[in-house]
Amino acid sequence: MIEASQLAKNYGSFSAVKDLSLTVRPGEVLGLVGPNGAGKTTTLRCLAGIIPATRGSIRVAGHDLAADPVAAKRALAFFPDEPRLFDYLTVRQHLAFVARIYGVRDHEALAQPLLDEFEIADKADQLPGELSRGMKQKLAIACGLLHGPAVMFFDEPLTGLDPLGIRRMKNSIIARARAGAAIVLSSHLLHLLEEVCTHVLILKRGEKIADGTLAEVAARFGSAEGGVNLEEVFIRATGGTEH
Ligand SMILES: Nc1ncnc2c1ncn2[C@@H]1O[C@H](COP(=O)(O)OP(=O)(O)OP(=O)(O)O)[C@@H](O)[C@H]1O
Ligand SMILES: [Mg+2]
Repeated sequence: MIEASQLAKNYGSFSAVKDLSLTVRPGEVLGLVGPNGAGKTTTLRCLAGIIPATRGSIRVAGHDLAADPVAAKRALAFFPDEPRLFDYLTVRQHLAFVARIYGVRDHEALAQPLLDEFEIADKADQLPGELSRGMKQKLAIACGLLHGPAVMFFDEPLTGLDPLGIRRMKNSIIARARAGAAIVLSSHLLHLLEEVCTHVLILKRGEKIADGTLAEVAARFGSAEGGVNLEEVFIRATGGTEH
């Protein structure tokens, strides 16, 4: 469960996120959408405790992020848009290192299925410098999933993956949600979000314009007929002058 109440983030005098409240329950996938600079990455970083919020409160898996950051962070995984890896650790060593940090026992039994799921098992003994961009992203995701987080934040998880990689990533996200994880992800790939998300939140200049189930948001912006077209909703919600 993820709960944010009146979250705000300022960078100096610039207000990047304003008065944002949201709730994501176990099993739900919230898609964070909005134009470049809307505040999606800033929101995800605050929710994951990477940067401190200026105002507001955040609870992750029942833990107050400000009061008990270690317990909150143990329960979550944050996947940045640019994977950050260690130059001198192999794929397998990354997983072993992360397992040690999070106190994951018997990590080898858990690591192998992740290597298989993300199709990097044949690269297990190679360094990040020997991986393609998409493979690095897959390794970062495998590392984040190793401790079995109940809450996950993905910033643009599908960018840079090949079509099969996108499909597998979507299936992984859906499978984790079905297993009870609460997930927030940002993406500009709206047709893919339609397949993954149960809910959507539209941000514009740091403010929430709309949120709800896909169908609710679509109905509000007049695209309910013939199924949900999130791209149409996005353009109406963020581009027009009527809102
Ligand atoms: N470290 C920072 N210092 C100052 N301003 C920042 C910083 N990080 C982000 N901003 C500003 O905050 C606003 C929101 O940025 P953010 O990266 O959260 O947007 P975004 O919605 O993720 O955009 P994109 O779709 O391009 O990834 C932008 O105006 C950006 O310039
Ligand atoms: Mg961003």
